[in-house]
Amino acid sequence: MSDGDEDLNRGLEGIKVAETRLSDIDGEAGVLTIGGFPVDELARSATYEESVFLLFEDRLPTADELDDFRADLAGRRAIGEEVQAVLQRAAEEGKPAMDALRMGAAAANLDAGAEDPEADARRVIAVFPTIVATYWRYREGAEPVEPREDLRHAANYLYMLQGEEPDEAAVRGLETYLNTVIDHGLNASTFTARTVVSTESDVVSAATAAVGTLKGPLHGGAPGPVLDMLRSIHESGDPEGYVREKLEAGERLMGFGHRVYRVRDPRAAVLETAAAEFYDEAGDSDFFETIEDFEDVAVEALAEHKPGRDLETNVEFYTAALLDGVGVPKELFTTCFAVSRVGGWTAHALEQLDDNRLIRPLSAYVGDHDRSWTPVDER
Ligand code: COA
Repeated sequence: MSDGDEDLNRGLEGIKVAETRLSDIDGEAGVLTIGGFPVDELARSATYEESVFLLFEDRLPTADELDDFRADLAGRRAIGEEVQAVLQRAAEEGKPAMDALRMGAAAANLDAGAEDPEADARRVIAVFPTIVATYWRYREGAEPVEPREDLRHAANYLYMLQGEEPDEAAVRGLETYLNTVIDHGLNASTFTARTVVSTESDVVSAATAAVGTLKGPLHGGAPGPVLDMLRSIHESGDPEGYVREKLEAGERLMGFGHRVYRVRDPRAAVLETAAAEFYDEAGDSDFFETIEDFEDVAVEALAEHKPGRDLETNVEFYTAALLDGVGVPKELFTTCFAVSRVGGWTAHALEQLDDNRLIRPLSAYVGDHDRSWTPVDER
């Protein structure tokens, strides 16, 4: 038995396994840098295409380069009838959006191989919104909307989801979100993507595996439940009662706590500001007040519940508020996260391939040794 193995590090906390120039997290100070920019500056200023270009090339594009890059991504958005058919089936059978995305990402990229990783990366980024929107249209009993090459990434995504051209405020709101969560150090899904290509597998496989990793509630699956929680608290008007009940039952409060941050997640502030504008405009500022009050109540209760652990607001909390504000249905919150993070996954995959070393950690064996075999008829 290797119980108490001093080399064992469950969850790889504090272990560095890759060099990256893509993003940097200071978890104690609550500072996030993406491609060299503070997250709030990038989130406010960039189009999603510029953020992806920045991650791929480590610099901002010139105006001509941006036009070319935008056109190139736009030209890779379409999916064939066979892919539409599998998404239709997933929607009609009520399968979750993340499962449809995982299947759609694989089905839409059957032709991709390991020969041109950057072309695969562009295709995966371009096609994720089409897959999600097609699935959603079928789920709503509507026909899918063909992508439009003249719209930028975020605008086209909303257009395909909603069937009409979105207003600029919604596009900017969504784009702020997409820029904010595009990359975040070596989180579980990004680590998955790097691990997949470290075997010299391909970028499509990396992105598909990363979708499966993102799906879990400890990673990207929290914002849907956050919205349900906030709506129910808004109705009951009793945030203290809700928090007490959950914590006494030993449950976790969704939207709080983080493996790396010990202070408020800096992405929460960016998304909070963006969300506030929407609720103001929509005349729903009561609900937004509930959200902000609940944050205070929850953080205080968590400090009493786990003294010294610093459980603060994470990105998912205001993601729920902002995505709801721009009109993304809650069933698609985690797929929206994937629509953004695929930029980070693929940039990490390309970075890993540039200077690859097979990722292959060890495990601590805690089973028996020297068992002797008993034939089946004697057991
Ligand atoms: N609500 C209540 N308690 C929480 C909590 C939360 N949101 N997050 C952590 N804790 C508690 C844990 O139960 C644990 O208590 P224990 O020592 O008695 O078991 C303690 O704080 C330490 O948590 P730990 O499991 O070590 O944290 P982690 O680094 O593994 O987990 C998260 C980080 C994000 C998975 C965790 O905080 C969580 O589950 N949050 C809720 C889900 C969520 O918002 N996910 C989105 C992440 S961006």
